[in-house]
Amino acid sequence: VTPTAQHPIPTAPGALPLAGHAIPLLRDTLGFMESLRSHGDMVTIHLGAQPTVVLNSPALLKEILVDRAPSLDKGRFFDKMGQILGDGMVSAAGAAHIRKRRLLQPAFHRAQIEKYVGHMRERAEDAVAGWAPGEVLDVPAVMTGLTLDMLAATVFSSSLDESAFAELRRCLPVVMSSVGRRIMSPDLLEKLPTPGNRRFNEARRRVRAIIGDAVERLRAGGHDEDDMLAALLRARDEETGEPMTAERICNEILTLAVAGTETSALCLSWLFYELARHPEAEKQVVAEVDDVLGGRPVGFEEIGRLEYTRRVVTETLRLHHPGWLVTRRTTTRTTIGGREFPPGTDLAYCQYALHRDAALFPDPLRFDPDRWLDDWAATLPEGAFIPFGAGKHKCIGEHYAWTQLIVTVATVVSRRRLTTAAGQVVTPVARATVRPKQLLMTVGPRTARA
Ligand code: HEM
Repeated sequence: VTPTAQHPIPTAPGALPLAGHAIPLLRDTLGFMESLRSHGDMVTIHLGAQPTVVLNSPALLKEILVDRAPSLDKGRFFDKMGQILGDGMVSAAGAAHIRKRRLLQPAFHRAQIEKYVGHMRERAEDAVAGWAPGEVLDVPAVMTGLTLDMLAATVFSSSLDESAFAELRRCLPVVMSSVGRRIMSPDLLEKLPTPGNRRFNEARRRVRAIIGDAVERLRAGGHDEDDMLAALLRARDEETGEPMTAERICNEILTLAVAGTETSALCLSWLFYELARHPEAEKQVVAEVDDVLGGRPVGFEEIGRLEYTRRVVTETLRLHHPGWLVTRRTTTRTTIGGREFPPGTDLAYCQYALHRDAALFPDPLRFDPDRWLDDWAATLPEGAFIPFGAGKHKCIGEHYAWTQLIVTVATVVSRRRLTTAAGQVVTPVARATVRPKQLLMTVGPRTARA
């Protein structure tokens, strides 16, 4: 990196030749990422051998996500995702990104989401009905299963059959946990025949084979429902007029399954964990859900009226954001924060650390849904609270996610209560997303209302 401003950008301590910051990153990813904020607005770290400028201030984040977006592509995190999952929408940039986004967009329109609510609720009700009183749940696994079921029932309209989704349920977590590790480590480690690499290769091969078969079957059967899969099957390449290959469709499905399941599932996991630790907040959610729903199932209209529940979700997205690294890369000479960077400069930011910055969020480690009262968010600088990103790559699933999160919370608290086992210490670890290392919760009868 050769910035032209007078002051050089500091490099975070702890880098080794070849390995870069792999050791502090692998030892304590989140602690390391949080420590970077003490070096100022810009600090260089080495991901593998690659220098990456980490941006810390809200103003710089707005700059890269919105103002300078046309001269950036997506960078290392998404390169890795592309290598692992195939070239889907999440890793695309430029014209390819616009084409892919246009193709998937209709599945996320408001009118579609309104149609999805019933399916989301049914999936949540089915999941909760399967929880026996006294049963101990592996919460992240249960929530990942649930969000995958929701995606299957909505965006894919169940056009992928049961066995395809059972296989996805089994293999996706293995694939996901490798994405994170592969970002932090030198690339050559991926080639070694370690048990972890073998497990990952096998899981990825299974996922691709299953989805590939399902796509071929649907194409042969003339699948023509009003769903995203049908749109992908109908799509023609704008230049060649050819239909998308099964492999490309498979890439889109896989990327969507990755972008849209673990993120929401972990948000739900952390949310139930925080409710269990904050009985007052829990009682308030239960009271609100009872008052608004009056015993009826949650529908689209009620979602907007669950204001306290919404604040609980917002606070969870702040304190436990699932993203710890978003990357970009300059494609041309680009000015950021008044400095010029050459093409090929890697940039990154960490939402997890940003949302825990005491300068922006007073008493940041406190779970306090009411900090969002009175439109407090409007007083934050632009770029300070960006759970779904900003600019042209802003999460396509934002409204989908809000809807599924609130539907799930309302459905669960109406029927059951989840408590953490005494003495359980829950620690966050960074993989592709930030997840609890282990989170076991016990199913009990629903909370009595306040
Ligand atoms: C709580 C849940 C979620 C969170 C916190 C979240 C967060 C994000 C963020 C921060 C980005 C922007 C990344 C960047 O700037 O490069 C993003 C992009 C994306 N998200 Fe989400 N997301 C969530 C749920 C979902 C769901 C449910 C779906 C789909 C079903 C989804 C699909 C996508 C896709 C396809 C992109 C890429 C958009 C583009 O590059 O144009 N996400 N998400």
